Amino acid sequence: MMHNVEIAPGVYSVGAVDWTKRNFHGYETPRGVTYNAYLIVDEKICLVDTVKAPFTKELLERVSQIVDLEKIDYIVCNHTEPDHSSALPFVMEKTPQAKVVLTAQGKASIIKHYQKEYDFQVVKEGDVLDLGRKKLHFITMPMLHWPDSMASYLDGEEILFSNDAFGQHICTNQCFDDENNISDIMDEASKYYSNILMPYNRLIGNALGKTETVPIKMIAPSHGVIWRTHIKDILVKYEKWGSGYNNGSIVIVYDSMWGATEDMARRILEGVSAAGVVAKLHCLTTSSLSDIINDSLECGGIIVGSSTQHNDVLPTMGGFLTYLKGLRPVNKIGAAFGAYGWAGGAQKSIEESLTASGIAVESSNLSFKWVADQDEREKCFNFGLEFAKKVQGNKE
Ligand code: FEO
Repeated sequence: MMHNVEIAPGVYSVGAVDWTKRNFHGYETPRGVTYNAYLIVDEKICLVDTVKAPFTKELLERVSQIVDLEKIDYIVCNHTEPDHSSALPFVMEKTPQAKVVLTAQGKASIIKHYQKEYDFQVVKEGDVLDLGRKKLHFITMPMLHWPDSMASYLDGEEILFSNDAFGQHICTNQCFDDENNISDIMDEASKYYSNILMPYNRLIGNALGKTETVPIKMIAPSHGVIWRTHIKDILVKYEKWGSGYNNGSIVIVYDSMWGATEDMARRILEGVSAAGVVAKLHCLTTSSLSDIINDSLECGGIIVGSSTQHNDVLPTMGGFLTYLKGLRPVNKIGAAFGAYGWAGGAQKSIEESLTASGIAVESSNLSFKWVADQDEREKCFNFGLEFAKKVQGNKE
């Protein structure tokens, strides 16, 4: 028998937990993934979001324990990415009477994804769905993180169904924030923000402004735990992240063909440490991109190194720089370094990529032939020291 949790009177958590998922379109998820869905039982019955298709049976079993499927009046589709909507066609086979409530962009997306037409009810900012004793209010959040994205707010219970916003990729059988290790939850919320929402930083303030107009007792996202005790903490974090807050820390990222670039990375780190600045060192062959980006979210400086191969960076570094560029980090300074054999190229390539990512590049001249000698190692140390001071001067 599937386990349901009544999170508030007449509101149930009915989604699925994907305990073994370790890669979410490139985002590494060592703690697994959940696809949350919620059932509101009022005079009208409303399912808020569905799940990923392989979990359809699980969702339907959970819902069926609470209401007959033919009694569902509405299925709200806050966001049409397949982790939340790919079960919809299968759910609709069992609930053909249900209206599918979504934005105009959401309607277009569902039709194109599944080549199905349903009884759609298109909603826009401020529209209200009357469920009887309570009402569901729609808050559009275009490009957070798809054009169709919206949140739904249940008055009476004061629950914000925020979909991807405020989500975390973490599996648990305890659905509230205060039932889990909060530092794990906050870390996964930060990782989620940095890997999914960072490119849309400038839209966060506006979205938060919309939610400030209503009292919130719970934020029920589509991934991870429900916020009920640490609501203020996560809202403050989103405000900081959306405004490009930097804490003055530094991230050093590198890959090294034969160890010379790695040695440079460690000397730079020694210089940063001598300045008393918090830093993380990541080698691209051992750290996941998702973790590096998470550490980069609040950092003020990013120092990137690669050996030169074929007059350019190593392939791992190419992947990292492409990913970084797409995420459009803000309010950071950067620098490049690396060792080369008979012709350089990696340092210039890194500097160009960092600039294209919106990072202000400090020239380091840390491009050394074969293996850095004592003098060159000293230059690495000194650069780390001076760069760290500059980042500290820039922190908020
Ligand atoms: Fe969780 Fe954008 O889907």
